[in-house]
Amino acid sequence: MKPINVGLLGLGTVGGGTLTVLRRNEAEITRRAGRAIRVKVAAVRDLKKAQAQYAGEDIKITTDAMEVVENPDIDIVVELIGGTDLAKNLVLKAIANGKHVVTANKALLAMHGNEIFAAAQAKGVMVAFEAAVAGGIPIIKAVREGLTANRIEWIAGIINGTTNFILSEMRDKGLSFETVLAEAQRLGYAESDPTFDVEGVDAAHKLTILSAIAFGIPMQFDKAYTEGISKLTKEDIQYAEQLGYRIKILGITKRTPKGIELRVHPTLIPTKRLIANVEGVMNAILVKGDAVGATMYYGRGAGSEPTASSVVADLVDVTRMLTADPENRVPHLAFQPDALSSEPILPMSEVRTAYYLRMRAEDKPGVLADITRILADLEISIDAMIQKEPDEGQEQVDIIILTHEAVEKNINQAIAKIEGLSAIPSKVTRLRLENLG
Ligand code: NDP
Ligand code: HSE
Repeated sequence: MKPINVGLLGLGTVGGGTLTVLRRNEAEITRRAGRAIRVKVAAVRDLKKAQAQYAGEDIKITTDAMEVVENPDIDIVVELIGGTDLAKNLVLKAIANGKHVVTANKALLAMHGNEIFAAAQAKGVMVAFEAAVAGGIPIIKAVREGLTANRIEWIAGIINGTTNFILSEMRDKGLSFETVLAEAQRLGYAESDPTFDVEGVDAAHKLTILSAIAFGIPMQFDKAYTEGISKLTKEDIQYAEQLGYRIKILGITKRTPKGIELRVHPTLIPTKRLIANVEGVMNAILVKGDAVGATMYYGRGAGSEPTASSVVADLVDVTRMLTADPENRVPHLAFQPDALSSEPILPMSEVRTAYYLRMRAEDKPGVLADITRILADLEISIDAMIQKEPDEGQEQVDIIILTHEAVEKNINQAIAKIEGLSAIPSKVTRLRLENLG
């Protein structure tokens, strides 16, 4: 059968890995896809660098990305440029030209996915995006197809490799944040703007996609609550460990009677949970379905060939489904496009979870009683509490409180009142805690 022709937009970490994997496993991939998958043309910014790297290969390299999406010989466009402006134009143009699209670009889908999927639907082409969430883990396939019998209850995952790598390396090797971030960049894990990783934005992009395919709702990135690791202190990491918890950046999306939770933040998880022991660039995602119960998916969340593994899987899927009637293909967002739900995203103030609170307090009688009274008045029940002995010559102590589940707006009020006490000289640190039982 005639080979399928691919145009690659980008030959960087993921684009380069995609080419390598396609080359190395060509025979196996052809046996699986039913026909050869050939990269005919690739777009880059630095032509000389790419021409030197791919000298002697049968690929046309260009700096004009539009040339790739306009090329009538190309069947599938693989967008691996990143960003949301040019990438959006290129993807929409490719769709308008009747080409199928594979992308690893979670920012693009989280922000413009509704428009892109509507355009693809209207044109009868596929937009595949396995690589956009959790690198090499086939989580999109698992949620969209493997768990299709289930009413999904919640998803909780470590879905950013860079921050998990940073937290692990800082804890285990005592390295500085800057050193580990530079290493994550060298290894190709980090986004071109690494604040996307550090501030939880990249995880929120991925969570937005997961939430859409789990609950059959449109992409609503603007309603995601996002908090990264930049304000996390060594003290909190150590206190959490002493209490039997590990801090991970979790993306959590949960169906509740009032709406859908969509939140990314540092989270205390009991150390005994498998997911608390997922280290380095590895990602892990727990998905709870009503029929199957809890399931967990684990693997490399970033990097060249792990991500290429997902890109190539999409290329094979698209190749196999080319001749299928569009109505008989798996819907982009798992649910039929005319059956999406309007369930609201819950504002963070309405989220219910458990909390870790750390405060510095004057070491004098009555302070603890004042704090516990504030919590009790707001129906916040204490699960555990430790008061550290003051350091030599110090008259202030650290108090750490773990609460049972409470509503975030009540915790906000409690924190404001505690910070108003004369015996509390500084801000209260608040982290969220999930038992994931
Ligand atoms: P890189 O920066 O390594 O590669 C980007 C590529 O796009 C480069 O080849 C670059 O060219 C090319 N490019 C950029 N702008 C243009 C342009 N205007 N015209 C033509 N070519 C252009 O990025 P990654 O491979 O790391 O990431 C690509 C996408 O994959 C992003 O959306 C990212 O979020 C996503 N992703 C990345 C993962 C990872 O582990 N790195 C994992 C999962 C998803 P040149 O080489 O000349 O600079
Ligand atoms: N920057 C992302 C991460 C790449 O570190 O997880 C994979 O999506």
